[in-house]
Amino acid sequence: MKGIILAGGTGSRLYPLTKVTNKHLLPVYDKPMIYYPLQTLIGAGVKDIMIVSGRGHAGHFLELLGSGADFGVKLTYEIQDEAGGIAQALGLAEDFADSENVTVILGDNIFQDNITDAVQNFKEGAHIFLKPVPDAQRFGVAEVDENNGHVLGIEEKPTQPKSDFAVTGLYIYSNDVFDIIKILKPSHRGELEITDVNNHYIQKNRMRYSVLRGFWSDAGTFDSLHCASELVRSMKTAQGDQVACLGIVSSESSECKEGN
Ligand code: G1P
Repeated sequence: MKGIILAGGTGSRLYPLTKVTNKHLLPVYDKPMIYYPLQTLIGAGVKDIMIVSGRGHAGHFLELLGSGADFGVKLTYEIQDEAGGIAQALGLAEDFADSENVTVILGDNIFQDNITDAVQNFKEGAHIFLKPVPDAQRFGVAEVDENNGHVLGIEEKPTQPKSDFAVTGLYIYSNDVFDIIKILKPSHRGELEITDVNNHYIQKNRMRYSVLRGFWSDAGTFDSLHCASELVRSMKTAQGDQVACLGIVSSESSECKEGN
């Protein structure tokens, strides 16, 4: 299993914090944001990881993370020349994946859960991770049949969500995800959407899902960035410094009360 962290995009919702640096390098409490998705992959036993970033700040990721030796992993870097969507960025990792399956994580998503079981038990198709949220219209939203564990469909930022299950920025795919990306058409905002990739697997009845138990936050807006810092800080205060590894915390008590 290879790991891919998608850390491109302009971070326009965080301007002017992102005027001279990349969103994924901003602090979430005491670490640069990208440390958290990196730790989620490492905590799941993924050791060969590619970071896809935009051309403006690629060198900064290299300076910060280097070869990956400090983390006990091997890091590879790829450039997304222009922001063309999450699926387009993922497509750039095809050669790196080299016929293996991939665990993909968005660089601004912060997870408390450990996903080792889902990664190690993954066989084929796709696997998404859902989290009930009060503001589902901000995300991809999944409609599921909880009786048989099927995902019925995903809508990207619907005005009237069919459930409160946000599709988090963490996905496991068979290597054929790269073939699917090649046949995608750009959405109305001109991007290749990860939701279209996921709906392809759903239509072929090849999608599984888990519901996360611990906290999850993206950190792409002022409020969610602040909230993510607060959550990490509260965990560290409660449980000591070893909680720097988010993946080892299983408590369900942390909850963001700021509406993300
Ligand atoms: C992206 C995905 C969306 C997902 C979200 C998770 O949205 O398109 O389906 O729910 O990440 O953070 P974006 O943050 O790019 O608007």
